[in-house]
Amino acid sequence: MKNILVTGGAGFIGSAFVRRMVSKHPEYTIVVFDKMTYAGNTDNLLPVSQSGNFRLVQCDIADREAVRSAFDSYGIDTVVNFAAETHVDRSILSPDAFIYSNVVGVHILLESAQKHGIERFLHVSTDEVYGDIEGDHFSVEDDPFKPNSPYAASKAGGDLMVRA
Ligand SMILES: NC(=O)c1ccc[n+]([C@@H]2O[C@H](COP(=O)([O-])OP(=O)(O)OC[C@H]3O[C@@H](n4cnc5c(N)ncnc54)[C@H](O)[C@@H]3O)[C@@H](O)[C@H]2O)c1
Repeated sequence: MKNILVTGGAGFIGSAFVRRMVSKHPEYTIVVFDKMTYAGNTDNLLPVSQSGNFRLVQCDIADREAVRSAFDSYGIDTVVNFAAETHVDRSILSPDAFIYSNVVGVHILLESAQKHGIERFLHVSTDEVYGDIEGDHFSVEDDPFKPNSPYAASKAGGDLMVRA
């Protein structure tokens, strides 16, 4: 039995992943762990909210004690990290929240996962870390990072913590 912690699971992409996993994989328990910022929306999760293999915990990935408690309470063995501040324009106006969630939050989640012997940690990045792409080119994973906004820089910082 896999118990999967899906951070940011009430957001746009995370909730699509959760809806699919809950309905197609009843053998897994899906625990959504989300701070419910302006971007989190429980309506995204309504189609699966009554399912026996679905749980929702409102918490912050940068809150060490809350992460530890979720890992223990639900016997988590797998983490999928979608949680992030994601809006480029907001990051230019007010970058603090981006550093907090996308760098410090990722660090705390990783550190907690390591302590709890989590089997698999899947971290979601963004092509924004590679900067502007010319013409019809596309980026590959080992291209150099050239972030052009606090959002992209904070995602690159979190990615580097995952790599390290
Ligand atoms: N949407 C895109 O086009 C796109 C493209 C490439 C990569 N991504 C990446 O995919 C992931 C999901 O993107 P999205 O568009 O679904 O984002 P979103 O903004 O719709 O959702 C983010 C979710 O994370 C939650 N969250 C934010 N800070 C948190 C914290 N500290 N602790 C717990 N939860 C927190 C929010 O409440 C929200 O539910 C992000 O990591 C993003 O960088 C998104």
